[in-house]
Amino acid sequence: APDAYKYIEVSEPRPGVGQVTLSRPKALNALSGPLITELNTALASLSASPTIGAVVLTGSSKAFAAGADIKEMASLTFSEAYTTSFIESWSNLTTTVKKPILAAVSGYALGGGCELALMCDLIYCTSDAKFGQPEIKLGTIPGAGGSQRLTRAVGKSKAMELILTGKFFSGEEAEKWGVAARTFATHEELMAGVLETAETIASYSKVAVMAAKEVVNKSQDLPLRDGVEYERRVFHALFGSQDQKIGMKAFAEKSKAEWSHK
Ligand code: HXC
Repeated sequence: APDAYKYIEVSEPRPGVGQVTLSRPKALNALSGPLITELNTALASLSASPTIGAVVLTGSSKAFAAGADIKEMASLTFSEAYTTSFIESWSNLTTTVKKPILAAVSGYALGGGCELALMCDLIYCTSDAKFGQPEIKLGTIPGAGGSQRLTRAVGKSKAMELILTGKFFSGEEAEKWGVAARTFATHEELMAGVLETAETIASYSKVAVMAAKEVVNKSQDLPLRDGVEYERRVFHALFGSQDQKIGMKAFAEKSKAEWSHK
């Protein structure tokens, strides 16, 4: 039950839209082990919910998340990190949730916070959001995919600069460089914008939405030729869905599609 969470809040602010709000205000939403466990539990439950079509992941106006919990990590040894697969559970976010996850970033998205946003399917942010991979200043490197996902998003030279200097980049820069899809002037406008997009996505056929998410994400892993072939296979498979028949029939009849989500 949502009340059982200590470090996050879960709500359904719009029909079909689940929202997870990171809520560890005293630590700027630093991503501790217990917080990540709650996040995975909440996402698994939203993922399993038949009514939810899209998920928004956000923080406060001050911080999306200021990183992995430095105090928790500080004394970890190699053996402990290696044998417990430290951080690996973070990737549940992308590997087990088929529904789109939209990150809404205000304030700090640093280190693991930046990586968490990069794991989401799209990012909306405020113009003055502060992204960064400052791990180098702590004597370490990004550990939750930052060196790979940021590099794919902004290109090698800029990613090198950001990761080697640890300097922050703004929401405005994030949009200019293709990290974020859209920026907003305030946290309130950001939340209105992200919920509107999430509601639009949730209004479509869940089968088609999940397939669309899957094929776009494949583009990050596969060479172009294999990616195009993968897309075509999934496109062909959707001729086996009820919703493809419903959607195209509704178009021909000039009526509104009533999705079966099958
Ligand atoms: C633990 C953190 C934290 C973090 C902030 N806090 N970030 N605790 N882990 N990542 C805590 C502070 O210790 C402080 O607690 C409280 O939150 C408020 O932070 P302040 O520093 O007082 O706030 P401010 O002066 O406004 O500065 C904000 C800030 C700064 C610039 C974001 O907090 C900061 O630099 N944080 C660390 C950012 C960072 O290096 N992130 C990368 C982490 S490494 P107290 O108890 O003192 O009030 C990482 C590795 C990822 O993420 C690898 C795999 C996931």
